[in-house]
Amino acid sequence: MAETGIHNLVFSGKKRTGSDDIDREDFIVAKKPMKPMWEDPAAALANARHEFGEHGGVNMSIEASATFTVMEPETMRRMFTGELGPDRDFFIYSRHFNPTVLNLSRHLAALEGTEAAYCTASGMSAISSVLLQLCSSGGHMVASRALYGGTHALLTHFLPRACNITTTFVDISDHDMVKEAIAEGRTKVLYFETVSNPTLMVANVPELSRIAHDKGVTVVVDNTFSPMVLAPTRLGADVVVHSISKYISGGADIIAGAVCGPASLVNSMMDLQQGTLMLLGPTMNAKVAFELSERIPHLSMRMKEHCNRAFVYATRMKKLGLKVIYPGLQDHPDHDLLKSMANKEYGYGGILCVDMETEERANRLMNLLQNYTQFGFMAVSLGYYETLMSCSGSSTSSELNTEEKELAGISPGLVRMSIGYSGTLEQKWSQLEKALSRMQDSSLLSKN
Ligand SMILES: Cc1ncc(COP(=O)(O)O)c(C=O)c1O
Repeated sequence: MAETGIHNLVFSGKKRTGSDDIDREDFIVAKKPMKPMWEDPAAALANARHEFGEHGGVNMSIEASATFTVMEPETMRRMFTGELGPDRDFFIYSRHFNPTVLNLSRHLAALEGTEAAYCTASGMSAISSVLLQLCSSGGHMVASRALYGGTHALLTHFLPRACNITTTFVDISDHDMVKEAIAEGRTKVLYFETVSNPTLMVANVPELSRIAHDKGVTVVVDNTFSPMVLAPTRLGADVVVHSISKYISGGADIIAGAVCGPASLVNSMMDLQQGTLMLLGPTMNAKVAFELSERIPHLSMRMKEHCNRAFVYATRMKKLGLKVIYPGLQDHPDHDLLKSMANKEYGYGGILCVDMETEERANRLMNLLQNYTQFGFMAVSLGYYETLMSCSGSSTSSELNTEEKELAGISPGLVRMSIGYSGTLEQKWSQLEKALSRMQDSSLLSKN
């Protein structure tokens, strides 16, 4: 399918009436180049088009159909050539564009300040689809050493074996190392997480983007840990991927993802001959898209409270002498960098880590926090309203071998906590404090 106009995915056309032959004037708004307004992610979301239901409902209707009818037989051919597309409210099949998924995707584009977006069945499918779209067999990527375990495994094992796409891993805070790793002409993508999972290293998005762009490399950033807090494409990155399963969903009940970037990229991913979304097929179900669309309006409020509580607990835990890693703390090596890039008033992220040094002590602490004081749950994932805790080295980063974990800075006793907002802040703090005092282990307290 030929690429449709740049802004097609930002504004869709009017609803179709009797005939497929529509007055082109009706679509003038869809064709006009328009820069999405963007001051703050919450403001951008409020400025995005509100889709009403078919009968005037305040919520959009769910377009649950897998397939779509046409009024005239010739229309089908024109849709398959790309002449008639979703910008004019022509839909082929829901593995391709679906109106409900497109509405949610517009909100993701607004959130990230990108021209377009499309939602996928998982964060991993968003990541793999965009990388496979940007890299061909024999291609090369440069990526951060500190990545979510699944992404690390995709780049280390799966893509080289299945697609002959190789990756050089680097310390992204070492900009000379990044420059050296880029093989001009061959390297297609620089990939990193804005705030790394689980080490909470913050990427210098403007500087890394400048380095990559100087060498013609596309910057793809995973912003799963910091929606609302950071907007990577506003800082110079080209593409943002999300695991919507985390903060954006907020309910720990849905697996979903998104690719946010230029309309040309999103359209290429839907291409009937070459598109990874169309041909590998990991697009989102319309019913899931509807569920998620109901949660986007309170994402900013949820993020503020996650971040507020994480900041308070990290500060207090630090005072108790624990080895806390939290980019909101002034002694975090990336604190100033994060402050310089962050959107105002969202805080410094809702995840904190505490380094218990050994897995045994990490497990003891988590056990007390769940089974003695009910502070949170031992579970992977993040962004839920309850606190979730996991020992990263033996769970979500277990795909990395010992050396890779060391290089990424993952200690065997690192406990990652996704701080929830249920109950009151003081009620939950007293549960955390009670578990800490029960540890009765003087070595828990660092010497400095
Ligand atoms: C930073 C990050 N990116 C991507 C993923 C993958 O997302 P999903 O589980 O939705 O496929 C995860 C976790 O699962 C993650 O933590």
